[in-house]
Amino acid sequence: HAFTADRLLLFGATGDLAQRMLLPSLCALAHDGLLSPDLRIVGTARSEMSDAEYRDFAREALEKYLPDSRRGGMDDFLGRLTYQALDASTTAGFDMLAAKVGTPDQGLAIFLSTAPSLFEPTIAGLQSAGLTGPKVRIGLEKPLGTDLDSSCEINDAVAAAFSEDRIFRIDHYLGKETVQNLLALRFANVMFEPIWNANYIDHVQITVAETVGLESRVAYYDDSGALRDMVQNHMLQLLALVCMEPPTSFDATAVRDEKVKVLRSLRAVGEGETVTGQYRAGAISGTAVPGYDEELGKESDTETFVAIKAHVDNWRWKGVPFYLRTGKRLPERVTEIVVQFRCIPFSIFEDRGAKTVPNRLVIGIQPEENISLRLMAKVPGLDREGIRLRPVPLDISMPDAFAGAVKRIAYERLLLDLVEGDQTLFVRRDEVEAQWEWIDAIRAGWVETGLTPKTYTAGAWGPSAAIALAERDGVSWHE
Ligand code: BG6
Repeated sequence: HAFTADRLLLFGATGDLAQRMLLPSLCALAHDGLLSPDLRIVGTARSEMSDAEYRDFAREALEKYLPDSRRGGMDDFLGRLTYQALDASTTAGFDMLAAKVGTPDQGLAIFLSTAPSLFEPTIAGLQSAGLTGPKVRIGLEKPLGTDLDSSCEINDAVAAAFSEDRIFRIDHYLGKETVQNLLALRFANVMFEPIWNANYIDHVQITVAETVGLESRVAYYDDSGALRDMVQNHMLQLLALVCMEPPTSFDATAVRDEKVKVLRSLRAVGEGETVTGQYRAGAISGTAVPGYDEELGKESDTETFVAIKAHVDNWRWKGVPFYLRTGKRLPERVTEIVVQFRCIPFSIFEDRGAKTVPNRLVIGIQPEENISLRLMAKVPGLDREGIRLRPVPLDISMPDAFAGAVKRIAYERLLLDLVEGDQTLFVRRDEVEAQWEWIDAIRAGWVETGLTPKTYTAGAWGPSAAIALAERDGVSWHE
């Protein structure tokens, strides 16, 4: 099914994701000359709009969400857009849609960014209108279900119309340059891999902290919660990239084969190994913000924070805890992976009064990409009162190392790969299902033990129990 699509059909074309990410990404790709001049884009959603009205809508989104410097060629991009209104819940309008799409010369890429309840009817509609042939591939935006069963149902419906090599499940974290760089760090350098295991690593921390609250996604988020919104997908993908064995090559099958092995090695989380929280009114960077229930307008048991102590039960990682935490309304927006190495086996400096602390590698993913390795060094001096050692960071800032590189939106990479047909950065069915299986067991445990979220003040690092979760093991969260 190797083809570069010359038609792109965008479901959910008036939605929030389309405005903030998809249209800006496509325009930026066009600006950089990365889209074939033949590529035509058809948007579809429920609202009635003419082509011209949709172009105005898109222009507004681009002006709002794409920096000036990347908007050159906007008119040319807008010229590629057309629009067809559709009620995707019935097959009735799909023939008109197919007529609007026309017959592509090379092939069609479809992107579904709609409510998951529309996935199945949309697939049925596409089938009825002949829009699922071998020259059609489909990209699916999350959430792909709310648990293993519902995700299997969606996957089955999609599989009835598209073979797996034409299904592109999106996890936008995989489109982030910095996340892909994890693979380069591990597999393009010789010095990490020999020590990247339980013999040398004490524990790993993965933090995805956000300062935003509910934003405008009230219904979706309150049904989902932090575990399903962030851990099930993005954080488990980060964990898989950190833990995977070296793939045999950098291609979709080899990379995903290794990731799924990690996901299948996740140990069921035990009682007391998760903490959930929900924010109350507080302040972020000095600005007062309301509590979750005030934003929501009612009381709710949905968690806006979760911390988990996870284990990967395989030869490489046996015994290494992975502390994961994510939440809304935390003090800063930061995504980072902290690899804490073990202590040195013996210190020749101790009887001269000097303490050593273990090495630590911090991989900063956002907002800035940097890599920092904590090394012990001697404090300069004549040491008349004993030797002094101090940890010093060996810092690499990626923006400095690659000054002038374009900072791209994750969806630029993913949309380009969808159009061109490269699945390496998309999530395979077995991965999604392994992810859900682990998450479902956690949720079942919460129900069984009656766990409800503890409160935390907006602007704090989650409830104090999250700090205790790590501290019990003598670990402090990296801040
Ligand atoms: C989305 C979640 O998948 O990722 C959001 O649904 C979250 O709740 C977002 O805010 C975070 O993405 P990023 O790229 O801003 O880290």
